[in-house]
Amino acid sequence: MHTYSVRKVGVVGATGYSGVELVRRLANHPGADLVAAMGSAGSEPRRIPALRQIWDDSVVPLDLDRLAALDAVFLAVPDTLAAEVGPALAARGPRVFDLSGAFRLRDKALRNRWYPHSPDPELPVTYGLTERYREELGEARLVACAGCYPTAAILSLQPLVAAGLLEPGIIVDAKSGVSGAGKTPTERTHFSEIHGSMAAYGLFSHRHGAEIEQEVGTDVTFVPHLVPLDRGILETIYARLRPGASGDDVTATLQAAYAGAAFVRLTGADLPEIKHVAHTNFCDIGWRVSPDGRQLVMVACIDNLVKGAAGQAIQNFNVAFGFPEALGLN
Ligand SMILES: NC(=O)c1ccc[n+]([C@@H]2O[C@H](COP(=O)([O-])OP(=O)(O)OC[C@H]3O[C@@H](n4cnc5c(N)ncnc54)[C@H](OP(=O)(O)O)[C@@H]3O)[C@@H](O)[C@H]2O)c1
Repeated sequence: MHTYSVRKVGVVGATGYSGVELVRRLANHPGADLVAAMGSAGSEPRRIPALRQIWDDSVVPLDLDRLAALDAVFLAVPDTLAAEVGPALAARGPRVFDLSGAFRLRDKALRNRWYPHSPDPELPVTYGLTERYREELGEARLVACAGCYPTAAILSLQPLVAAGLLEPGIIVDAKSGVSGAGKTPTERTHFSEIHGSMAAYGLFSHRHGAEIEQEVGTDVTFVPHLVPLDRGILETIYARLRPGASGDDVTATLQAAYAGAAFVRLTGADLPEIKHVAHTNFCDIGWRVSPDGRQLVMVACIDNLVKGAAGQAIQNFNVAFGFPEALGLN
């Protein structure tokens, strides 16, 4: 049996949707000793009923000094708190895996616009999409894990844009289950509003649009929708192939980009569905080209709480600490 050099880890935001997913997986991770799971400062210690016999300790109030002694801290908290504590913790020792958007945008003006509470980070930030930044993760101290909608869009589009196969004018039509909005219900997300309905939101004003454009390297029209599911994201992506580019080029480019990828499954003309990826760390990507060879439609699915959040963060942690990429994730 393989033995691993076990790292002491903590989770902040352990009572939230992403936090519970982190605790569930880290509690059984052969390379992690989950020594602290925390909620808001001043909150009462709480158990996580869904994790009985998986992790029976209590979630305790936030204690930064305790976290500073660990090897790694996962932040599954609002971006305002992550902006405050992420760089400070990373400067004190632990490597920080931030699930929020606080430090994902490299451009200062964009960061000021979309995350006005985020200061200029005093230490380098690594964008936490393992498939793209594997080489940088080994040295990373502060990892800004990729957002949920961006993960599916970037994994689908970035190789094709980089290969020059697509015309400008890409559309990302995205649908997300309600857990994407976190555990606190709002007028838009509580059951009686979303059950039996669907709504577009955030047109030209969702901060994930800037993140997708940063990583894909071109403008996209990003339209998110809320759908009556508890979890999962499906994105339908519309693009036109450049003259001279073919469906075979699309296939060859994606296959080369993801040869041996642990968590990207290329499904070709068999279009993926949310049920195929729910509760997994997979991103499934399928595509078809129109009979005239000009239009490309892609469909990408992830579980927003796993590949879009907790699983992605653990995948980054695994690579950062030299563990097998899929450790604790299958
Ligand atoms: N949901 C998703 O699909 C998803 C995907 C990717 C990234 N993210 C990002 O991950 C982060 C967490 O999202 P979520 O949806 O899991 O959130 P959530 O369900 O709303 O849970 C938020 C967590 O943060 C804690 N928290 C809130 N304010 C705090 C404070 N001042 N100090 C310490 N803890 C505090 C809460 O603890 P209490 O119970 O004590 O209030 C709770 O554990 C967000 O930045 C979000 O943008 C979410």
